[in-house]
Amino acid sequence: MQEFDAVEIFRGLAWEGPFPETAIDRAGDALEAGKVLYFPDLAFRLLPGEEMFLDDKVSDHSRKNVSFDPLTGQLGATALAGAEEKKLAAMLDRFGRQARALLVGLIPAYDIGLERARTSFRPVEIAGRPTSPRHDDTRLHVDAFPSRPMRGKRILRVFSNIAPDDTVRRWEVGEPFADFAEKFLPRLRRKLPGAAWFMERIGLTKGRRSAYDFLMLGLHDQGKLDTEYQRSAPRVKLAFPPGSTWIVYTDQVLHAAMSGRFALEQTFHLPNDRMLHPERTPLRVLERLSARALV
Ligand code: SIN
Ligand code: FE
Repeated sequence: MQEFDAVEIFRGLAWEGPFPETAIDRAGDALEAGKVLYFPDLAFRLLPGEEMFLDDKVSDHSRKNVSFDPLTGQLGATALAGAEEKKLAAMLDRFGRQARALLVGLIPAYDIGLERARTSFRPVEIAGRPTSPRHDDTRLHVDAFPSRPMRGKRILRVFSNIAPDDTVRRWEVGEPFADFAEKFLPRLRRKLPGAAWFMERIGLTKGRRSAYDFLMLGLHDQGKLDTEYQRSAPRVKLAFPPGSTWIVYTDQVLHAAMSGRFALEQTFHLPNDRMLHPERTPLRVLERLSARALV
């Protein structure tokens, strides 16, 4: 795979449209084909006083990221309090609103059904961060989270590098989802009936896991734990410099975040049937490969 297949580049755009028709035509198709939409000159601008947040001391280091919940307005995992905490929450909220405007401006069909989930601030350097293999995001993976069943909903993320120096965020992206799934699916064991009910019942999951969720978690874990795959799998190296923004379906695009600090990220969830090309989604690919309904 070549870099020009992995990335679709958009120059000279603002956070809000109206955007040129040519950009709108390219964006939805490329994104759903599993490309990274890359905006090399779309910077998230800090307001006066916000530079103080470019310091890993804003994190309480209980988790990788500081997170903002747009439903409650609360920040999680921050060491800040009082007025400073409020100012950081406002900054993350502003990023989330700009991310939404960019997305629905470029893909107007997403306006209905797009759910804004958490916003995160990622101040801590990725390289050398101690983690277990399952939590190690420097290994190629598709996103799937144990406590959050998606039941076929998509995970779409908008990132900006806001590092104040020249620290690029380095990623690697892997082979197409279907190729990856075909390799690992035969290794996954079917879960016992009743397992999903039990996990929901004891509060391990928020809602019930579907067969789709079990498979996505299995792919996430088995892919990360396969050291030979991690060593030899095809990949393209990407470098996102400060002042750039990128959008990617992280449940579909195999990705590894290798190094970098000070990124903002907004997660969106979208129902599978809001896609321009529903047949390309991980849900439909896995249903074809396993010849059964998964949600
Ligand atoms: C990930 O989703 O694996 C991490 C992405 C990043 O923080 O750049
Ligand atoms: Fe990830």
